[in-house]
Amino acid sequence: MKTTISVATPAQLEAESLVAVVLNHADPAQNEKNKDAKPQLKLATDDPAVQAAAADLLASGELTGKAFETNLLHKPSGMKAKRLLLISGGSAKKFSSYDLRRVAGAAVRTLKSRGLRSLALIAPPQIPAEEATRAIVEGALVGNFDPDYYRSDRKNQKIDDLTIVAGKNEKKADLEKAAGEAQIIGESQNFARDLVNEPSNRMTPTILADRARKMCQEVGLKCEVFGADKIKEMKMGAFWSVAQGSDEPPALIVMKYEPSGAPQKPVIGLVGKGITFDTGGISIKPADGMEKMKYDMAGGATMIAAMRAIALLKPKVKVIGIVCATENMPSGHAQKPGDVQIAMSGKSIEIINTDAEGRLVLADGLHYAKQLGCTHLIDAATLTGAVVVALGMLNAGVFANDDAIYERFHKANQEAGEKMWRLPLDEEYMDQIRSSIADIMNTGGRWGGAINAAMFLQEFAEETPWIHLDIAGTAWMEEQKPWIAKGPSGIALRSLVEFVRSFAG
Ligand code: BES
Ligand code: MN
Ligand code: ZN
Repeated sequence: MKTTISVATPAQLEAESLVAVVLNHADPAQNEKNKDAKPQLKLATDDPAVQAAAADLLASGELTGKAFETNLLHKPSGMKAKRLLLISGGSAKKFSSYDLRRVAGAAVRTLKSRGLRSLALIAPPQIPAEEATRAIVEGALVGNFDPDYYRSDRKNQKIDDLTIVAGKNEKKADLEKAAGEAQIIGESQNFARDLVNEPSNRMTPTILADRARKMCQEVGLKCEVFGADKIKEMKMGAFWSVAQGSDEPPALIVMKYEPSGAPQKPVIGLVGKGITFDTGGISIKPADGMEKMKYDMAGGATMIAAMRAIALLKPKVKVIGIVCATENMPSGHAQKPGDVQIAMSGKSIEIINTDAEGRLVLADGLHYAKQLGCTHLIDAATLTGAVVVALGMLNAGVFANDDAIYERFHKANQEAGEKMWRLPLDEEYMDQIRSSIADIMNTGGRWGGAINAAMFLQEFAEETPWIHLDIAGTAWMEEQKPWIAKGPSGIALRSLVEFVRSFAG
């Protein structure tokens, strides 16, 4: 998708479709009490021609003003555009760049489903122009993705050209820079979704490593991939304990971004869970819904895609990306409940449930990141069903062993417009995962399962400031929304990239 900034008068634009946002200025509290209260709809632009073209429709009383309501007018009078799409952003009072991102995605999905190829969206003046530009570009790219790769009737409908219509007093160069950066981020988010979308027979650990290597070559990153021999040689006993059950060779993917001029420290470590299929192993999962476990590499895909974005955005900070990729399979050489494994750090682990495999591969991934010199760690993983019980599919779970790193991440997360919620790591939870035969167990019972998993990981992050993101409930959209297709969401990529950039000042 090509992005252009225009500071022309909206009515003068020769667009295939001009898009204007409608906001409801009725007091939302008033509306709650009085269900008959009429929406007060106004366009988020002061262009008189666009207002005139929409006036009758807005005054008709036919519109609800609910977010994402759309109306398409052909040959709007007094304008050069062929079409005018009105799309509701919901309540004017609450309207933020979070909503604008989704409105842009919904506009893209509405128009591309009609076979249209380009649109010009009028940036709502309520939101500062650079922030609006970023939100529109990121949202439009997210909306442009569809996962129906293997359908013979795939139409591959896409918007090829996006124009952002900014106020005539805005500095075009600043907005072009914002749009360019947002484009890198949006495309990287879609790259993560592309990897996650592939089924396990087409996204083995080897294929994931090949995709990472290819990406690294394209953007100028160092990339090394280690196989079973090296994993065993490095004594990654936790990672190997999962990999040993599969006939597909595992891959330890290591990507390095070391820009000239970056200080020696900090070094940010991005560690991703790359289980390309999770059967549960000998503690096998029920058949119902198991097909979805192809997305158990979403954390790893997100780290690969984040490295891409970082390499292209070039912040002056060192970053190392590590993905522990393997299948989790039952077989004659699979590990069994009760087995004791020695992690790379030397800690012994009693395996209670072979389906708690994500924390095993991450244990060695986190330790290895420290060994490579990482001073700050962040991991992302579809780690537990329990986080879905706790937070549903709306918020990802965030854990941190240090308040300063949490605050930094939280700020990045707010800017990225992704929903996440912090969960606790009290020392007392450790009682849940103590073992009588080894240092720790890999599961801690049913209650607080997402926390038990995070406590386990903390044993390997140790004192290094660390963030853990449990994206099990948010990495896959169970249903389509106006702004995004059903399927992989690309969650966490934008927050990760903002987080890394925050270190570069
Ligand atoms: N990959 C799963 C977690 C998961 C569940 C991801 C649902 C996406 C959607 C993970 O490896 C797992 O199986 N976790 C177990 C842990 C349990 C055995 C302690 C779980 O959540 O049931
Ligand atoms: Mn599992
Ligand atoms: Zn898993």
